[in-house]
Amino acid sequence: MSGAVEPVIRVQGLHKRFGGNAVLRGVDLEVPQGQVLIVMGPSGSGKTTFIRCLNFLEMPDQGQVRVCGVELSPPRGALPDAAMRRQIRQIRLQTSMVFQSFNLFAHMSALDNVIEGLVSVQGWKRPAASERGMELLAKVGLADKARSLPGQLSGGQKQRVAIARALATGPKVILFDEPTSALDPELRDEVLRVMRALASEGMTMVVVTHEVRFAREVADRVIFMEQGVVQTDLPRDAFFGAQAGERVRQFLGAVSC
Ligand SMILES: Nc1ncnc2c1ncn2[C@@H]1O[C@H](COP(=O)(O)OP(=O)(O)OP(=O)(O)O)[C@@H](O)[C@H]1O
Ligand SMILES: [Mg+2]
Repeated sequence: MSGAVEPVIRVQGLHKRFGGNAVLRGVDLEVPQGQVLIVMGPSGSGKTTFIRCLNFLEMPDQGQVRVCGVELSPPRGALPDAAMRRQIRQIRLQTSMVFQSFNLFAHMSALDNVIEGLVSVQGWKRPAASERGMELLAKVGLADKARSLPGQLSGGQKQRVAIARALATGPKVILFDEPTSALDPELRDEVLRVMRALASEGMTMVVVTHEVRFAREVADRVIFMEQGVVQTDLPRDAFFGAQAGERVRQFLGAVSC
């Protein structure tokens, strides 16, 4: 990959507070194209808030977020105006998110969940969208579940549908927020397998997870967040080696138990 390629994500001086609670206190980060960045850190350290700020599900209070060449510098406390809403829309077209709790529409089939964004946001005709949706369901190993409702699927299958949905709109980056932490251990591997395949295809991924084995295997780089700042930012091998320092080792010891 050429060094001249602009990073997919560039964040500078990102701050976010909820009332009196300063949750993000100056985050600076770049994610180059094709990188798998793992985000770790204790509960409440701001991981979810951080990735929600990357596609403006949360509005940052301060700082710059540049995603796929679209830059937003939100005015502190202001509601988004029309121009900003347009930019947010552009950013959301290039970023997809996979949530811990799947967030599928309960009354829609797996296939309809996958193609919903294509049809309602991108204006695809249903036959073409369905064809693409079936390809994606096949990619995540669920071609035979296209007509099933989410309630008829296991947690691991639901999350794989959610990943197929995230891929449908052709994003440049996928943001994952603890995609396996609501799953029983025996269902995690089927989701991690799909994520591993995406990583090996070169998808840019930001993954909040405590899956140490997955991170050791798939991450290019790992950051450790604590109290709203990036406390440690290292290439994978360094993060899991001696270089990361006592605090990270302590944390890894706790989550690996
Ligand atoms: N919408 C909100 N309104 C008010 N406070 C919030 C909101 N979202 C998050 N917070 C607070 O911000 C802090 C950081 O939360 P966040 O969810 O980003 O942490 P996290 O690192 O993802 O934690 P976890 O590992 O438990 O998911 C917490 O103190 C939380 O209570
Ligand atoms: Mg979280």
